[in-house]
Amino acid sequence: MTEVTTTRGRLIVLEGGEGAGKSTQVRAVVAALEAQGRRVLQTREPGGSPLAEAIRALVLGDWDEGIDGNTEALLIFAARAAHLHARIGPALQSGCDVVCDRFVDASYAYQGAGRGLGMARIAELERWTLGELRPDLVLLLDIEPELGLKRAKSRGDANRFEAETLEFASKVRQTYLLRAAANPNRYELIDASQPLEQVQSAVLAALTRHLGLVAA
Ligand code: TYD
Repeated sequence: MTEVTTTRGRLIVLEGGEGAGKSTQVRAVVAALEAQGRRVLQTREPGGSPLAEAIRALVLGDWDEGIDGNTEALLIFAARAAHLHARIGPALQSGCDVVCDRFVDASYAYQGAGRGLGMARIAELERWTLGELRPDLVLLLDIEPELGLKRAKSRGDANRFEAETLEFASKVRQTYLLRAAANPNRYELIDASQPLEQVQSAVLAALTRHLGLVAA
């Protein structure tokens, strides 16, 4: 009997505050991986599967009664569990790389710090939902909240998080920076206030360093 073993795909995540230009860089990462002949699933959170996208609409919706931090965190992790089950898990198993616009670090930053739930709560939900799975590489597009929020506004973006205060955005940023500093092997800090082309070069250089890709 011949045993067929497939090498697990890599999970690559892009994170950053509002207006950091993630979407553009997600596409650049996908293109670079595909140019290497890799199969790639491009996805995002909250969302990424039909059920998870339905939960996303609930999370980002405006509710007269408001959404408290616990409800927000639990919905986001429910969406993450669905996404993992339907899309991310099967893709990684089949050897496909996954490029995800935001993942669990966003929960530490937005719910843990921004909403004040604390890191321990998020770590519990992370263990419950993800087990041992962690991103292979997190590209953190770092930008000062003042500049990021200005950019997001000029793009006409207006979700509940973009309407948050500067203080909220600063807590989000600090948490991302602390997590990146604590795990230099899995995180790359990228200055997203630079012009787009320079951000892209930095992103592709980081891919090369961490995953052994030849930058295009
Ligand atoms: P989106 O419009 O995709 O924002 P962006 O373009 O900035 O990624 O909306 C996703 C929002 O959800 C974003 O503002 C951050 C928030 N979010 C959390 O609060 N926690 C999470 O775990 C995730 C994945 C996202």
